[in-house]
Amino acid sequence: MIMKDDKISKITVPELQARKKAGQKIVALTAYDFPSARVLDEAGLDLILVGDSLGMVVLGYENTVPVTMEEMLHHTRAVSRAVRRALVIGDMPYFSFHLSPEETVRNASRFLKEAGAGGVKIEGAGRKRLKLIEAMVEAEIPVLGHVGLTPQSIHHLGQFKVRGKNLEEARRILDDALNLEKAGVFAVVLECVPLELARLITGRLSVPTIGIGAGPYCDGQILVFHDLTGFTPGYLPKFVKKYLDLHSLLGRAVRSYIEDVRQGDFPEDAHSYHLAEAERKTIAALGRRSRSGRPAGARAASAR
Ligand code: KIV
Repeated sequence: MIMKDDKISKITVPELQARKKAGQKIVALTAYDFPSARVLDEAGLDLILVGDSLGMVVLGYENTVPVTMEEMLHHTRAVSRAVRRALVIGDMPYFSFHLSPEETVRNASRFLKEAGAGGVKIEGAGRKRLKLIEAMVEAEIPVLGHVGLTPQSIHHLGQFKVRGKNLEEARRILDDALNLEKAGVFAVVLECVPLELARLITGRLSVPTIGIGAGPYCDGQILVFHDLTGFTPGYLPKFVKKYLDLHSLLGRAVRSYIEDVRQGDFPEDAHSYHLAEAERKTIAALGRRSRSGRPAGARAASAR
């Protein structure tokens, strides 16, 4: 069935893949809610990842391990409702793909069927993981791979640090990326690896690489929205470029509001509603007739 589409056309997986051949960079960010997804989409981003980093940046967990499928779907729905153009990818949270291929495919399909995503991301490239990716691709679910630093493995790895700095680990990450391509992923996220390794992998893969802390030679870049905008105060990894100090800006705005309310400077007449002339006179007369001496509105409020 061919339908006339009068909406802005969505960026597709094949379109993103064609960018690699054309030498055009893919630009991606994370988003977790309706208003920020709208800003990102209107600004012209190619891909929006509803990352499980939401566990840390918007839900306040210590790491991404506690994030659930329901939380991911809830936030992916909000993002999808805002996005008209970018490709939305939902991140498979820890333990949503660890039990069986059936459960993995079912969970992945929920991002597409219930949350409006155009694909899913999954961390890792072990033997079992590759089988799961094949099963998802077989079910026509576009899959974004993720190697290098994989934050869901925090309890296994012990700490978040650059991966692939020694030759053995670098070789393993290269093999992981090649195996992901063979398993059918449409692109691979390379997180926190030396730029020389990212450059090598980018040259060896025919699908795009999207780097985060992986240097300039990847086919695309992704950052966490709250890092780029300075919404999250405090420590930021070296690979982040902070374009704004949103945390300070918001703090300043809220402090001004507090002061205005306390000083009686807000709300002003411009922020208030008025009655029409006739009603105003009636209300004024009611106020004058009040036996308690208090305005009629105040009595009604205290009675509630
Ligand atoms: O969850 C996330 O935000 C991610 C990106 C950092 C790639 O996986």
